[in-house]
Amino acid sequence: MLHALGSAAPDPIIRLMQDFAADPRADKVDLGVGMYRDGEGRTPVMAAVRAAEARLLAAQETKGYLGLAGDPAFHAGMRDLLLGTAAAAERVAAAGTPGGTGALRQALELVRRANPGARVWLSAPTWPNHPALVRAAGLAPATYRYYDAASGGIDRAGMRADLEGAALGDVVLLHGCCHNPTGADLMPGDWADLAVMCERRGAVPLIDMAYLGFAEGIDADAAGLRLMAASLPEVLIAASGSKSFGLYRERVGCVLAICESAPVRDAAAAMLATLNRESYAFPPDHGARVVTTILADAALRADWAAELEAMRARLARLRQGLAEALRDAAGSDRFGSLAAQRGMFSLIGADPDQVERLRATHGLYLIGDGRINLAGLREADIPRVARAIAAELA
Ligand code: LMR
Repeated sequence: MLHALGSAAPDPIIRLMQDFAADPRADKVDLGVGMYRDGEGRTPVMAAVRAAEARLLAAQETKGYLGLAGDPAFHAGMRDLLLGTAAAAERVAAAGTPGGTGALRQALELVRRANPGARVWLSAPTWPNHPALVRAAGLAPATYRYYDAASGGIDRAGMRADLEGAALGDVVLLHGCCHNPTGADLMPGDWADLAVMCERRGAVPLIDMAYLGFAEGIDADAAGLRLMAASLPEVLIAASGSKSFGLYRERVGCVLAICESAPVRDAAAAMLATLNRESYAFPPDHGARVVTTILADAALRADWAAELEAMRARLARLRQGLAEALRDAAGSDRFGSLAAQRGMFSLIGADPDQVERLRATHGLYLIGDGRINLAGLREADIPRVARAIAAELA
């Protein structure tokens, strides 16, 4: 029977991770998968995570099952972290999920149960797994213009015009901050415009919040999401603990459904629990419990926020450093927009052949669409990386 399967197309990001690991060159540089790295190229366990894990090891008395949606204390911690006072707790249904990807999948499943004909509007470009997840959930992807390659910013007129095509009950997927793959983020005015547009069209925003704290800081990064939560009757949020807490392989995620009323909230919460039951029964607990421990303890929370801020500042320095080195190497402002973009990613405007030459000749690994993860840079690599990019893209 299984011979009928054919071959599944490999995910470009995950394949690149494997290719990088297999490359024996000592001077290779991993600008691929979206993981934070420190100055030595390591993805560290954050100090607050270590401390929380030590507490759990000493004090945890059972690993018995929780409810299907996971730990209510985790939901409350994530709700407060993301939403602050933007939406009353009675309006928010929540469920723990395996990572932000699990949260996206369950949010999309929730949409399909409510409106099987919904189209899910995705930015052009977007994270390659977004369209795959939409299709896997049995929904239809649609595209709105987003990135303006000429300016390195947002094509606002194109975005507005395309989203006018959104119908009642469609979903508009937005990147909460650190747009993946462009680094071109929505500004406060864009969030306000999009909220008005969603209300007018009857469309529901689904906000993918995978990089909280990596753009401008925790509260600034959550501001767009909070604006939508405060002004719209329904908002879906898929949150990840992978990057912001460095808990990648522990698979920490949470789906939040902000509902128009408490009865709708109860129905959404029950459906999210059912969706978990039908997928993996219970969500993973360890990473979620680490996050809950950190968020509930003032000292651990302050320590976590300070380390996250240091990671954000390092990324911003790398971004400025690479933008300057590229200006020197290229002798032009061609890559100038890098400095204004935010988070881990930017597109350098390389075609697949140029990406392949950067890998083969210079040991630089980036995604085929020309996305670089700036966190993969060590300071000492910047001049060499800039010279290679300028030479191959000349
Ligand atoms: C990325 O875009 O590199 C990350 O979100 C990791 C992943 O799962 O693709």
